[in-house]
Amino acid sequence: MPVLELNEADLTQLADDSQPLGELPTTMLAWVIREDRLGEPEDAIQLEEIECPEPGPFEVVVKVMAAGVNFNNVWAALGEPVSVFRYHPEDHHIGGSDASGIVWKVGEGVTRWKPGDEVVMHCNQASYEDVEVHGLDPLAAPSQQIWAYETTWGSFAQYCKVQAQQLLPKPKHLSWEEAASYGLTYFTAYRMLLDRAKIQGGDKVLIWGAAGGLGVFATQLVKMAGGKSVGVVSSDEKGELVKQLGAEDYINRGDYKLQRVGGETPEEEKARFKESRRFSNDVAEILGGAPDIVFEHVGKATFPTSVLCVKTFGKVVICGATSGYNLDFDVRYLWMRQKEILGSHFANAWEAKKANDLIDNGQISPVLWKTMGFEAVPESHQMLRDNKHLGKIAILVGATEEGQGKTADGPAAIRAEVGG
Ligand SMILES: NC(=O)c1ccc[n+]([C@@H]2O[C@H](COP(=O)([O-])OP(=O)(O)OC[C@H]3O[C@@H](n4cnc5c(N)ncnc54)[C@H](OP(=O)(O)O)[C@@H]3O)[C@@H](O)[C@H]2O)c1
Repeated sequence: MPVLELNEADLTQLADDSQPLGELPTTMLAWVIREDRLGEPEDAIQLEEIECPEPGPFEVVVKVMAAGVNFNNVWAALGEPVSVFRYHPEDHHIGGSDASGIVWKVGEGVTRWKPGDEVVMHCNQASYEDVEVHGLDPLAAPSQQIWAYETTWGSFAQYCKVQAQQLLPKPKHLSWEEAASYGLTYFTAYRMLLDRAKIQGGDKVLIWGAAGGLGVFATQLVKMAGGKSVGVVSSDEKGELVKQLGAEDYINRGDYKLQRVGGETPEEEKARFKESRRFSNDVAEILGGAPDIVFEHVGKATFPTSVLCVKTFGKVVICGATSGYNLDFDVRYLWMRQKEILGSHFANAWEAKKANDLIDNGQISPVLWKTMGFEAVPESHQMLRDNKHLGKIAILVGATEEGQGKTADGPAAIRAEVGG
């Protein structure tokens, strides 16, 4: 399909509501990654007119009203650490693992959802034929995939295609863009803290990247669970946001030289260890003791500090590695003090449902930094890549302006006002 220049694309069709419910157009506008142009998000993600997907058995096609921007589509654009074209057979990749929208057409076998239902969605897919789905966890299924990362047909398009089990009711008090903004990072943080690390009331938690996509929800969840958190950030403005979300305090990582870069001399390693100790002491001072849980997703740069910092018998729970995935650390601090490292990956449908209920009843709020137009999909990913954002970015797709889609009263998203 030919790439469309923005000035030649008819973006008014995004708001066209003449398409009858239950019927799909032949083509649609979508932001697409192709294997021959992997690279910086601004170059890799291009606008195309592409065929509209049809729902298969137990699948649903949703008209996208708004989409959420996530780091996974930065990795998809870069083709790092591996190309997404190794995961799925299609020659195109439409990212976008978060969305709010309207069920437009349902496939054979779908009974719980009908055209017209307003929904958000979680991004875990698995085959119902895998036995792991029926008693262990869908995340353990051989067929498990993250929708719009390991599959295509994501939400940076007029219509997206999902499995029916991915759908959740859209919280009525949220606008389309607020509802599209939280799923992937929030549901991930929920599983990490509640189901993997089994947070308890009174627990002390260190949260890396506390003003980022995962961090803004981890901070709220710790508070909700009756724990105390300290958030690590790279600016005082971000720190203020983290305090507003319920952290005891924040630490500006710029005040410490604790990044593990690799290839250091023994002297440099010694100096870094000293800084990690100083950092750990400051964390303990804020929390009133060493953390029971360290919330990790930075990886290589911070992992040695996380293992050192967490208390004896404490847990480091990790779901990502923004700074590099080959981790090395002094293992003596792990075994002598009987610490645990827990891997965690997204969330299952039940966790997503439980977490969505907390948004629905106002106990947890989306944290929206910017809402951008459909034309800004590449730019918004570049902002993530360049760490120029806070909280979450949403993209208007079928919605024509911010604030549409609310049908009940309730707390709006928290607005992250600073940064950029
Ligand atoms: N497995 C899963 O299911 C899953 C789900 C969601 C996300 N992830 C992964 O988790 C990572 C974070 O996702 P996100 O949405 O929270 O991204 P994000 O919005 O970019 O937030 C990450 C934060 O980490 C901090 N950070 C970045 N580099 C750092 C470094 N070298 N040292 C210390 N802090 C650093 C930055 O905060 P400051 O600059 O303020 O410190 C940044 O805001 C990504 O790699 C993503 O792919 C995995």
